[in-house]
Amino acid sequence: MAFLSRQRQALCAWQGRQRKGTNAMGEYAIEFEQVSKTFPHAAEPAVHETSLNIAEGSFITILGASGSGKTTLLKMVNRIHEPTSGRIRVQGQDITSLPVKNLRRKIGYVIQQIGLFPHMTVEQNIATVPKILGWNAGKIRERVAELLELVHLPAEFRDRYPRQLSGGQQQRVGIARAMAGDASIMLMDEPFGALDAITRASLQDELIDIQRKLNKTILFVTHDIDEAMKLGDQIVIMNEGRIQQYGTPLEILTEPANDFVRQLVHADDVFQRLELMEAQRMMVPVRQASGEIGHTVYTTDSLKKVLSCLLQSDGEQVGVRNEDDELVGTIGFEQLKVLDGRIHEPIESR
Ligand SMILES: Nc1ncnc2c1ncn2[C@@H]1O[C@H](COP(=O)(O)OP(=O)(O)OP(=O)(O)O)[C@@H](O)[C@H]1O
Ligand SMILES: [Mg+2]
Repeated sequence: MAFLSRQRQALCAWQGRQRKGTNAMGEYAIEFEQVSKTFPHAAEPAVHETSLNIAEGSFITILGASGSGKTTLLKMVNRIHEPTSGRIRVQGQDITSLPVKNLRRKIGYVIQQIGLFPHMTVEQNIATVPKILGWNAGKIRERVAELLELVHLPAEFRDRYPRQLSGGQQQRVGIARAMAGDASIMLMDEPFGALDAITRASLQDELIDIQRKLNKTILFVTHDIDEAMKLGDQIVIMNEGRIQQYGTPLEILTEPANDFVRQLVHADDVFQRLELMEAQRMMVPVRQASGEIGHTVYTTDSLKKVLSCLLQSDGEQVGVRNEDDELVGTIGFEQLKVLDGRIHEPIESR
């Protein structure tokens, strides 16, 4: 156990950023406390005694097979479903203690199918929540323009109808709509599920960018392991209504909690998975750098590249540069020891 806990500490250090926690008031963005949901006439609960703390500003992916309770978990946060037992708090407040309308103002929601209103233009779709909030026409127009830019859609799309857009473009409108009211929490239920691989990858990148810029708390459901690894600061793995593990992508790869997790994430194929994790997600910020720096990589390079560089260089660590070529962090062998003996395997041959 002591060994495991040392490993965990090393992992946190390696990640080089504090685990996000509570806000100044000591509150989490979302807390599930022993939450269960059993639908009428169901033999088993869809969600079973789930406890989970979601830190402000974190990007959480929820991964699990079809029917494992992911959507149900999400829909209890904005009270589309009510828990059978347990308690949910949003920013410290029990969600049953405030009017549903007020709760939903804090929470943007992108549903499993694209779900745009087909008889409304892009602008009208995006303006749904601002209208409910009573914003004036000028402010709404401004906000729509700002959001179209944020999700990389041309301004002239505002007058189109959903059927005149591609699937990827519709999904961008869905994201813009969920962000329109400036909610600090976003619930996203397999938003990219129906998209081709290329569109999906670029929307994933854009979403990471948006989250970094706006510091939203995002709960993102997917059944795609690669997507969960790429997007999540932390991943929640669910099976049959129960959380199997809640940890960083690296923790889940290197310390799968049980056989279910191991098989689900193909933890044995650690190198393939490392390809999905960016250096910036794991680096130690440069102010803590010490010792010789050998090769450097870019913030968006994969951890697989970092490992490869370390194995090829004589240095103790590799530097990490941002797009302006400034040194912003390091990753060293010392931290990589958490991968156990596995890094001695020649990764170039894989
Ligand atoms: N409104 C409902 N009424 C009754 N049972 C429901 C309802 N919604 C979901 N369920 C059941 O609850 C369980 C969990 O469903 P849920 O939609 O949360 O799964 P999921 O993990 O989101 O699956 P998927 O990946 O297919 O979207 C399933 O067995 C499902 O049949
Ligand atoms: Mg679902």
